[in-house]
Amino acid sequence: MAILPIRTYPDPVLRVRCSEIDAFDAGLRRLAGDMIETMYAAPGVGLAAPQIGVEQRLAVVDISVGKERAALKVLVNPEIVEEGGREVDTEGCLSIPDLTEKVARPTMVKVVAQDLEGSTVEIEAEDFEARAICHEVDHLNGVLFIDHLRGLRRDRVRRQLKKLGRA
Ligand code: NI
Repeated sequence: MAILPIRTYPDPVLRVRCSEIDAFDAGLRRLAGDMIETMYAAPGVGLAAPQIGVEQRLAVVDISVGKERAALKVLVNPEIVEEGGREVDTEGCLSIPDLTEKVARPTMVKVVAQDLEGSTVEIEAEDFEARAICHEVDHLNGVLFIDHLRGLRRDRVRRQLKKLGRA
């Protein structure tokens, strides 16, 4: 396994709609392993394939950051099929360092995805984990958390990105 460099905004790979994965092979397992290692090293609670320059629908989420084995979720071709509730909380992204902002997200999501063998899995997540999953699924569609901001928050983030020389 390897720790891979994380692409940062405004890298165009972060704006790509990623492709469905149909090969459940050793290459996919290696990619997932590298992403898990990269997420833990960052450290972060989630990572999506485009963040390491791979335009495929693969994301890893672990809100325990490696402390609880059962917390790790590897999501191949994930789709949010149901959501409920709404909560505004602080969010950040490994691809937009030094910037956090309050974002509204559902407090419950149901996700249908595949595992590394290609079997269909259904996952229900709440609160912070639901937020993390929404954030990573967004990445697979080229959407960043800053895209959810409106009004004053959006203006503030634009100014910050400009100051950081990223917009
Ligand atoms: Ni992110």
